[in-house]
Amino acid sequence: MLNRMVGKGSKLVGCGSATPKLSLSNDYLSNIVETSDEWIATRTGIRNRKVLSDGETLTSLAVESSGKALEMANIKPDEIDLVLLCTSTPDDLFGSAAQIQRELGCSKALAFDITAACSGFVLGLITGSRYIKGGGFENVLVVGADALSRYVDWTDRNTCILFGDGAGAVILQATNHDQDSLLGFNFRSDGHGQKHLHAFVGSEDLKEKTYAVDDNGAAFLPSRASPAFIRMNGKEVFRFAVRCVPETVEAALEEAGLSGHDLDWLLLHQANQRILDAVAQRLQIPSERVISNLASYGNTSAASIPLALDEAVRNGKVRPGDVLAIAGFGAGLTWGSAIIKWG
Ligand code: COA
Repeated sequence: MLNRMVGKGSKLVGCGSATPKLSLSNDYLSNIVETSDEWIATRTGIRNRKVLSDGETLTSLAVESSGKALEMANIKPDEIDLVLLCTSTPDDLFGSAAQIQRELGCSKALAFDITAACSGFVLGLITGSRYIKGGGFENVLVVGADALSRYVDWTDRNTCILFGDGAGAVILQATNHDQDSLLGFNFRSDGHGQKHLHAFVGSEDLKEKTYAVDDNGAAFLPSRASPAFIRMNGKEVFRFAVRCVPETVEAALEEAGLSGHDLDWLLLHQANQRILDAVAQRLQIPSERVISNLASYGNTSAASIPLALDEAVRNGKVRPGDVLAIAGFGAGLTWGSAIIKWG
């Protein structure tokens, strides 16, 4: 029985990540579209990306990353109360969180998906902490996982060079309010910007078949969803990120009662090195305190922040007690940030 005691804090007690086996280099992509390693590396900082192959699925990556997070946290699967899968690319249109719950054996957990594109993980972390704060939940698994390779138009050099697949997970655990690791947050959406970045689900009319005609002669033509392709105005998305990300980080810092100088690390959604550099410059955070691993993985959407966090924790860069600003931004448009303490 849940103790719905309000006012609990959330502690970050474990993390894990997983990426596909198959790696595609910039040189490889230059065989598919007219581009070059030099162009991609200079404009984005990306050199490789990993994509699903050979029976790998989004769920398998999510389960692998979650298993590692559970191990680090020393928590058994049946102690998890909530599984949040942040993704825009589930294996099942109806959501894949319950399959993670099943495969891990989180027998008592509620599980559902959250879709907020590349901002998904930040929103998932905030959502998980609210279930702990007001819902009496003890242990929450938040997974960021995406496989945008399924929706990339591999003939479009404007987009296909940017994206990769991956998964990252963290465990939030209830703690006393004064030990809360979520020090502040801010989240925004603006549907007006959808025109700059979207992947509309197409509709393939089954024109040859009319299934029913009503009394007025109107025909019912069932349509079938066809795969969507990512379409993007890169320059506009770049401008949006450089304008909105510093604002959201500053708002979250203000809520936390901190300034940029108090941050040990800036961990932004890994979209483009030039965006990371421009945001860090606006926030006056030196480059050695900016976490970046996009050269190896490209933009892995909702996975990018927990994937980079996991690498930084495991290689000893991020230590217990370190304060990080994390910020996501992307389609929707959505953007948001959280000030978190690790460990
Ligand atoms: N290889 C070689 N040339 C390319 C290319 C590629 N992969 N993609 C585009 N080009 C060409 C363009 O056709 C254009 O040629 P033209 O001048 O003859 O018309 C030229 O390079 C410049 O293109 P442009 O789009 O102006 O480049 P850019 O400096 O804006 O860089 C992005 C393009 C996509 C790298 C950059 O805009 C970006 O990263 N935006 C943010 C995207 C993002 O992060 N999206 C996800 C957010 S979650």
